[in-house]
Amino acid sequence: MNVLLTGGAGYIGSHIAVELLESGYDVVIADNFSNSDKGVITAIEKITGKRIDLFEIDVADKVKLNEVFEQTKPEAVIHLAGFKAVGESVSKPLMYYRNNIDCTLSLLEIMEAHNVNKLVFSSSATVYGIGERLPYTEEMLLGEASNPYGATKQMIERIIMDTVSCGWLSAVILRYFNPVGAHQSALIGEKPQGIPNNLMPYIMQVANGSLPELRVYGNDYPTRDGTGVRDYIHVMDLAKGHVDALKYFQDNDGVEVFNLGTGVGYSVLEIVAAFEKANGVKIPYSIVGRRDGDLAEVYADVKKAKNLLGWNAKLTIEDMCKDSYAFALIEKT
Ligand code: UFG
Repeated sequence: MNVLLTGGAGYIGSHIAVELLESGYDVVIADNFSNSDKGVITAIEKITGKRIDLFEIDVADKVKLNEVFEQTKPEAVIHLAGFKAVGESVSKPLMYYRNNIDCTLSLLEIMEAHNVNKLVFSSSATVYGIGERLPYTEEMLLGEASNPYGATKQMIERIIMDTVSCGWLSAVILRYFNPVGAHQSALIGEKPQGIPNNLMPYIMQVANGSLPELRVYGNDYPTRDGTGVRDYIHVMDLAKGHVDALKYFQDNDGVEVFNLGTGVGYSVLEIVAAFEKANGVKIPYSIVGRRDGDLAEVYADVKKAKNLLGWNAKLTIEDMCKDSYAFALIEKT
């Protein structure tokens, strides 16, 4: 089965590509490398010993996307292409709405034209918005998105649901919590451009000596130690969730939404301690003020994915910290 990954050269997409190839699928990647580099493709091929069909295109470009469909005849699509930096989306909202919505509309139109009717969409826990009860369950009504990036995820979910309602499409929407870690080979991993915004990439750069210390955004939240709590999930567990989503189409149609997390939250200081213990390194940090828009605590209810997809996260916080560090060390050299 040929699976098209839009944005497949990115952090999450590259790990999904490995998992798909190792599960016997053929992989086509469409990516414009706006937030990734071509070395990732070679790395995926090295890890798996298999070839990827690569198309360097903007997914919003319908003419070029149509050619990809004509040449490769995918049976299913995993849609990851999109901008994803929360802070940047606040300063460049139009760029986020234009890119993320355009990519999705072009993709759905081309899928319809080619009778490709299976879509897995990369969504985010950010769609739950502010003020929800924990843990987050899939049927919760979505609150107001706290930033334009989150709003694009909400809009795209709605676009997909409306399209499924008109009959030709089946979709699985996966709401990721906080993906971290890297493939065990350390050949692929998260490589943000510039100074990282997210916790684990920042810790990785402190650990490999590229940055002097971590700034912990607030220790006055109503949590165990006052720092923010999140549901971190190993990117390889996340990748497996996509393979299970594709299998779900064998017996199901319509649209279904699943949280992909572990169901367990860790605080910033717990992550720092886990990283230090797993890797025998010190992570110097200082406490600074809260970051705008951050929530105190976020974690998933993961029962639905377990019950309907037969999926659950298996890798531990120690695995996440070790694999992140191994990749950070290779990146530094
Ligand atoms: N944090 C720090 N210092 C840093 C970076 C982060 O203390 O340098 C803290 C944050 O305040 C938060 C926690 O670490 O408490 C996690 O922050 P991240 O930026 O790693 O992750 P977020 O939960 O804020 O956001 C992530 C993704 C979003 C996605 C969201 C879904 O980056 O794209 O999860 O819940 F929308």
